Amino acid sequence: MIQLDKEKFRGKDFISLNDFSADEINHMIDVALTLKSEKKAGIPHPLLPGKTLAMIFTKSSTRTRVSFEVGIYQLGGTGLFLSSRDIQIGRGEPIQDTSRVLSRMVDGIMIRTFSHQEVLDLARYSSIPVINGLSDYLHPTQVLADLMTIQEYKGKVKGLKLTYIGDGNNVANSLLIGGSKMGMQVVIASPSGYQPVPEIMKIAEQNAAESGGSAKVVEDPLTAAQDADIIYTDVWASMGQEEESQIRKKAFAGYQINAEMLRVAHPEAIVMHCLPAHRGEEITDEVMEGPQSVVFEEAENRLHAHKAIMALVM
Ligand code: CP
Ligand code: NVA
Repeated sequence: MIQLDKEKFRGKDFISLNDFSADEINHMIDVALTLKSEKKAGIPHPLLPGKTLAMIFTKSSTRTRVSFEVGIYQLGGTGLFLSSRDIQIGRGEPIQDTSRVLSRMVDGIMIRTFSHQEVLDLARYSSIPVINGLSDYLHPTQVLADLMTIQEYKGKVKGLKLTYIGDGNNVANSLLIGGSKMGMQVVIASPSGYQPVPEIMKIAEQNAAESGGSAKVVEDPLTAAQDADIIYTDVWASMGQEEESQIRKKAFAGYQINAEMLRVAHPEAIVMHCLPAHRGEEITDEVMEGPQSVVFEEAENRLHAHKAIMALVM
């Protein structure tokens, strides 16, 4: 039977991993791992009977959409998929009005959108928990599932070296925040002009000072990959940056996880990617399908991690 620390979590938004302590993140990982093993054993866990999660999407999604919708169902509740094209947000209804209306009808809101401010505004006006399913700035549900995956494969998180190769984007930002909170050595290798913003580095450095971890940004990917326990990458052009993709292909040439990169990493390093992947760009097909890749386990863990978030905050 799962022990949920509901008193600490109930009613809280899940917008950034920085809003949680290392202990709280560990609790979420523990709950996710327990939910995973119960699911595999066929033990039902209807922790949210009759509850409804509204899921607002202004961007595409496979993993986030399916995992939240299936996850709330497995917890005994219902998910409502709301494309911004179909609801009044798409016609200009303010987010603060949408937020107050949904607060009167459902029990939680998950939003995937462009502007991080929109996520913050939604949370500010809502009386129910808001979960950030990705903004241009952060992707915290992804990184919770990633930390869970690292815990599963490495038996620990603290002290491990995580090297992220590529764009200093939403995923890199959340890895910096989450990894530094948990005492990891996070190294980001990005070309100049595409590195994480100083505001994120400041948060990560503060976290690292408290946790005993470290956070740094470098330009050379091969040096960054040296002895890494985890090698992570993401697409060179994120959603909304499609028209920059040619320029980005040039800027990121060399920022690819390939066999050469794996040779300098720890021999038992695991390879992670939030997906969707562009094989032949940020990762080779060979590495993605190779024995060190855990990308599909990582994707599966979105389901278990999101169930843990919902079970705790809703
Ligand atoms: N990794 C991730 O968030 O995938 P989706 O865009 O498919 O949700
Ligand atoms: N950085 C990517 C992540 C997709 C899950 C994007 O924002 O498109």
